[in-house]
Amino acid sequence: MSDILGAMRRTHHCCELGTADIGREVVLMGWVQRRRDHGGVIFVDLRDREGITQVVFNPEINPDVHEKAQAIRNEYVLGVRGKVDPRPDGMINPNLTTGEVEIAVSELRLFNTAETPPFLVEDRVEVSENIRLKHRHIDLRRPRLQRNLITRHQATSAIRRYLDGNGFLDIETPMLTRSTPEGARDYLVPSRVNPGKFYALPQSPQIFKQLFMISGFDKYYQIARCFRDEDLRADRQPEFTQIDVEMSFVGEDDIMAMTEGMMAALFKEIHGIGLNRPFPALTYEEAIDRFGLDKPDIRFALELVDLSDIMAGCGFKVFANAVKNGGVVKAINAKGCIDFTRKELDDMTDFVSVYRAKGMAWIKIREDSWQSPIAKFFSEEEKAAMVERLNIEPGDLILFGSDAAKIVNESLGHLRNHLGKRLGLIDEDAFAFTWVTQFPLLEYDPDLKRYDAIHHPFTAPMEEDFDALAADPGKVRSQAYDLVLNGFELGGGSIRVHQIERQRRIFDAIGLKPEEYEEKFGFLLSALESGAPPHGGIALGLDRLVMLLCRESSIRDVIPFPKTQKAACLMTNAPADVDKAQLDELNLRVRIE
Ligand code: AMO
Ligand code: AMP
Repeated sequence: MSDILGAMRRTHHCCELGTADIGREVVLMGWVQRRRDHGGVIFVDLRDREGITQVVFNPEINPDVHEKAQAIRNEYVLGVRGKVDPRPDGMINPNLTTGEVEIAVSELRLFNTAETPPFLVEDRVEVSENIRLKHRHIDLRRPRLQRNLITRHQATSAIRRYLDGNGFLDIETPMLTRSTPEGARDYLVPSRVNPGKFYALPQSPQIFKQLFMISGFDKYYQIARCFRDEDLRADRQPEFTQIDVEMSFVGEDDIMAMTEGMMAALFKEIHGIGLNRPFPALTYEEAIDRFGLDKPDIRFALELVDLSDIMAGCGFKVFANAVKNGGVVKAINAKGCIDFTRKELDDMTDFVSVYRAKGMAWIKIREDSWQSPIAKFFSEEEKAAMVERLNIEPGDLILFGSDAAKIVNESLGHLRNHLGKRLGLIDEDAFAFTWVTQFPLLEYDPDLKRYDAIHHPFTAPMEEDFDALAADPGKVRSQAYDLVLNGFELGGGSIRVHQIERQRRIFDAIGLKPEEYEEKFGFLLSALESGAPPHGGIALGLDRLVMLLCRESSIRDVIPFPKTQKAACLMTNAPADVDKAQLDELNLRVRIE
């Protein structure tokens, strides 16, 4: 044989061998995790994607091979043939699946050398994320990232099996397309053959999957790449993956049941756990009222309590005025937190100011008195009403927000999550799903000076709210739902408008003129006129789902080649300058102000 492997062929992965294999001759191939020299005997931890096995080069048993092994350094690529031996007493490593055995090497092939890596290929290594991303191929050798990407594969595979088994068809949609309205900026691609014209990369397959329903495909799915030019965070990337689903002749309950079945199959496969079904559901209004956010983390209580009626006439003007001006006063009872220091309270005030809260009043409930800068403003009746509503007891710390409802809910909602973590109220092992339903259809956009779709303009209003569309657009509830897991928005979907007449009325309500919507979505409108069935769907963020499955805190740790906060790939240095010739061909000129 003329290849570098010679007669050597791998017999096992580096996770497989144990005491049952003692005495067998095996061949392993992989990377050098670590090399140790003990009085002439060389020990190498050999690593492949499945695990680590200790291989031993003993000068007394096999001097030639030992001589060759002197050259071995970290990350060299080896093939070894040898006999499985039990490890001597005291050398057993209980942390390793292969920790009871080692391989006494009789043949070594050095497939490749390696530069000293910029960081150790180990889980517990402190390196900046930028260095990890620059050398991502090495970072990806770390067991944690290997495990994450293997889990990602297992997840998509389980999801495909579930959907295939339930009659869904996996059909592709174009990447070079027109703007799809999901509310972010588009990534544009210039067209060479149509000078001055651009494709947009899809923000989602939304319109195409609706067209599939109109074409009669009935049940569609795609594990689809989507592109959105928006501000990046730990749970957002400019390109990401959706499990995208659409179904015909269904209502919200059908899509929810299908999604719950998919999650149940997935969690069974990955974690071997059953999920309680049906998942709990909150209306949007209830979620905001009790948790302040439309993606409530329901693993712990610490709910927001509305005190607006009690505070309407109180002596603390900030509260009374907020109510008078149409705002609210809400509070959180942080049970037993009376010992929070001044600094901690100030830090929390800074925390809520990020969400535009102008302050964070507090009261410490002592045995004999209420300690607070504002307690003096309240009458005995007002205090009694607070005690009752907030279930106040000595030792409690009450935190207040008062302002426009949006500001109070957002700031206290985030503060609630912050406190939940800080106080250890969260069961980190739990997977708490909840649906949030009946989202408002439209929201007034002060910048655009008009209403805009909260989800997208193809979402159907609730039947009973449809007639309010012209009179009171902000009040119309929709047949849209989000799936929330542990406080993360995992996915969202809706029943769609399938009748042209209704679609036009929605475009009217968001102030799109007929010529505008004909130009943008004419193809969809004419499709609606061609016999569109009732239909609806959902899209789940695969990256977020895998992040939560892997108990990671950033989606970057479950994406092989993610981008930085500035949407750059540090490995390839994308985005990059391009040649003038390439620009000329595209009829483009770069002008940077
Ligand atoms: P939506 O815009 O809610 O709905 O997106 C669905 C899910 O995709 C994930 N997601 C993201 N994940 C990572 N990075 C991002 N930048 C990002 N943006 C969104 C989220 C989100 O819940 N077409 C509709 C679905 C439908 O109506 O069927 C849609 O795209 O987990
Ligand atoms: P002041 O009377 O401005 O000194 O505020 C008294 C307390 O009320 C301080 O703890 C402030 O942080 C708090 N506070 C001020 N404005 C608000 C507000 N809009 N919501 C909640 N607390 C506030």
